[in-house]
This record gives sequence, structure tokens and C-alpha cells, in this order.
Amino acid sequence: MEKLVITGGTPLKGSVKISGAKNAAVAILPATVLIKGKCHIENLPDISDIKLCCEILEYLGASVTYISGNEVEIDCTNINKTDVPFSMTKKFRASYYFIGALLSRFGKAEVGSPGGCNLGVRPIDQHIKGFEAMGAKVEIEGGIIKAYSPFGKLHGDNVYLDIVSVGATMNIMLSAVLADGTTVIENAAKEPHIVDLANFLNTMGANIKGAGTDVIKITGVESLNRSASYSIVPDQIEAGTFMIAAAASRGDVTITNCITTHLSPISAKLIEMGVSIEESDDGEQIRVYCPNRTTKANIKTLPYPGFPTDMQPQAAVLLSVSEGTSYLTESVWDSRFQYTEELKRMGANIRVEGKTACIEGVDHLNACPVNATDLRAGAAMIIAGIIAEGDTEIHSIEHIDRGYEKFEEKFQKLGAKIKRVMEEE
Ligand code: EPZ
Repeated sequence: MEKLVITGGTPLKGSVKISGAKNAAVAILPATVLIKGKCHIENLPDISDIKLCCEILEYLGASVTYISGNEVEIDCTNINKTDVPFSMTKKFRASYYFIGALLSRFGKAEVGSPGGCNLGVRPIDQHIKGFEAMGAKVEIEGGIIKAYSPFGKLHGDNVYLDIVSVGATMNIMLSAVLADGTTVIENAAKEPHIVDLANFLNTMGANIKGAGTDVIKITGVESLNRSASYSIVPDQIEAGTFMIAAAASRGDVTITNCITTHLSPISAKLIEMGVSIEESDDGEQIRVYCPNRTTKANIKTLPYPGFPTDMQPQAAVLLSVSEGTSYLTESVWDSRFQYTEELKRMGANIRVEGKTACIEGVDHLNACPVNATDLRAGAAMIIAGIIAEGDTEIHSIEHIDRGYEKFEEKFQKLGAKIKRVMEEE
């Protein structure tokens, strides 16, 4: 077991390159199941969730060749299994994309229930509703999701999502690619990773229109191409995390290999709080600098293009040291405020009532041992450690390794005093 130790008080300065998007990559890798041929995928983040995806592909019979930590060649021609055991699926949320992909290619899938961050209840009823609308029978037995299509191929249909769901939108898209006829997803999610999955599938020969809007139309095709290359979109949340770290540390950071339009909801809030933002003309770099203390803001998380829920804990750190009283409302997940107990131990003044946290800005945070209660909470603890007085120890950092590539190295390059050490026995 390892922990991070951070000596706070250094403003971040310099430039940082953003990796490929975790939440796009964890859908695109299962999507390779649909292709009887070689896929060359670049700009993959080198994180543990990606390794788990590749282990599942190998278990299914695919050949997976790492060209580097960020580039992989996958050949799913000889996949000969349609089950994924719970021991593999429980380790991360996105394992549920194997249901849609296997169902689409083989007409059946038996996939263990997904794991992932503890954010309260995480149902998959909308995924199942989509599969059933396309003719699949779905049962959940002993923690295994068993889906099969009694009449061979799935058939296209209209699916209206009762709730905007990233996972259901992507899973239904996967299951519809090889179905007979046209599937229309209404009230679809619009996140950049939805568009990236559609772009990947279209590059492979799928017929998907409307990704990035709330109506997505997928016309089933007979088969996908036998080989193609694809580069994963830059990670919106990693870029946003560095933006907030720059502002909170009163630093000056240029973030490269990002897509600035994906960052607009975050930039808009930071500007409101007094942070300076400069975007490059090509839309691929953003400079964030902030010599002065930021001021209060009210933030409500919403599906894209709203303020991302995956930036909520990081935003709480910045609001904790901003002048005035801020209100931070979570409207996507039932329970995403566990980390506030850790921040309170560092001196933050936060009161959570239901889905809203009332945050009274304090002058500074103080170092103390804290836990990364989940992935984004872990990122928030790093930002808190960077701005706190003294040495902060962060435990349970395996959550952070699931989703951020070479995170402490990137922070070190920006001047942060952060190191990874073994936990004492
Ligand atoms: C994805 O989770 C992300 N994970 C999450 O990021 C992110 O927080 C979330 O989308 C929202 O942006 C991955 O992409 C792997 P949802 P997902 O389905 O797809 C409810 C991170 O830190 N819902 O959009 O599981 C659900 O309970 C992670 O990277 C249903 O009711 O989220 C929630 O309230 C954490 N029924 C809301 O919809 C369903 O069938 C949105 O969930 C599905 C979801």
C-alpha cells in the first residue's frame, strides 16, 4: 500500500499535458468487441481502469498488444466467450459496457455487476430498458446480469431515457450498432465521451448521427471494418482538475492537449470567482492564473454542458478557501459529499444539508492525514494538500490511480512538493 505526502504552500507554475479521457477510453475498449479485426488505439490514459478493461478483453479471447502505456493494438476476431466474471467486473464501473458490446455481437452476455466509486445508489435500469426495447431478455441472478436476444439479432427501437445517463446512452449505442433497423435514443447524455464513442464507432463503419445532442440515431450495420486507428479525446475532468489546482494554489498554469470548449462550464465559474483564463486560438490550450484570493460562487452540478459532477469535490476545495459563503449543489448523484468530512478535518468550514453543501471560506487549510474516499475526492485531497500549511498524507490512493495518469509526476513538474511513499506496516 502506498500513500502520497504533500508539503503545501507552493503556487503551481508551468505547463501540464492532459492525457486521454478515462470515461471515453473505458467505453471504446469494450467497443472493440464489435470488430472482427485489429483496432489501433492511441492517447489511452495509462491508468488502472484501462488495464482492467484490457484484462477483460484478453479473458474473452482477444489479443491485446501494448505498443506503449498509451497505445494498444486489439484484435477481437477470436473472442470465444460471452461471460465476464464478477471478480473482474466488480473492480470498476465501466465493466457494464461489455454487456452492450457482447449482446450486440453475439446476442448474449453474462456480465458481473459493476463496481466503481461509492456515490450512493447506482442503478442500471435505463441500460436494461434500452436492451429490452431492442428485444433482449434481461435477468439479474446472483450478481450476474444475464442478457440474451431470443431471436438472434437485436432490433432497433425508440428508447426514451427517464434520466440523462452517460452509461445508458453509451451502452444502448453499443448494443444498437449491429442491430437490425434504427434505434433512436431520446433524452440522451451529451458528454464529450459520448461523442468520442460515436466517433470511434463511425470510424469503424457504424452509422450513428446526433451524438452530442439529446437525440441519437443509430442505424444498424451488417458488420464493422476490419481494421482502423483511433485517438482518444483529451480528458475534460483531468484538465478541469488542473485548472482548479492552479486557481486554488494562486498559480499560473498552462494546460495543453485539451479541448477548451469542453472546459467552458468550468472556465465560466472560475472567471466568476476572479480567476484569469486565456484560451489559445486553436482551442487546445488554456492558461489559468490567479494571483489573488478567489471569491464565493454558487455551483450546481448538471449533465453536460452543465458543471460536471466529477469536478464537484475539486471545486469544494477552491470554495473552501474563497472569500465569502458559497453553495455547492450536487444534482447527479445521491451521495457525493463523503469527502467533506476529510476537508473539515483540514479546517474547511462546510455544512452539508441534503444535496447542498454550504461552504464558508476560510483563510487557509491545515495539513492532516486524509483518505481519498473515491477517485475525484482523491484529486480534491491532492489540491487541498498543495494549498494547506504543513505536510498532508493521503491514504487509499488506489482510487486516484484508477483515473489519473502519472498524477503526482504532473504536479511535481508544476512545482508541487508531492511524493509517493510506502505506507508503514
Ligand atoms: C458516468 O457514470 C461516469 N463514469 C461518472 O464518472 C460520472 O460521474 C457520471 O457518468 C455522470 O457524469 C463513467 O463514465 C465510467 P450516469 P455513469 O448513468 O454512467 C442515474 C468518475 O469519477 N441512473 O450518467 O454510471 C444515476 O443513479 C465517475 O469518473 C439511473 O437512475 O453515470 C445517477 O443519478 C464517477 N438509472 C444519474 O442517473 C440508470 O440506469 C447519472 O448516472 C443509470 C443512471
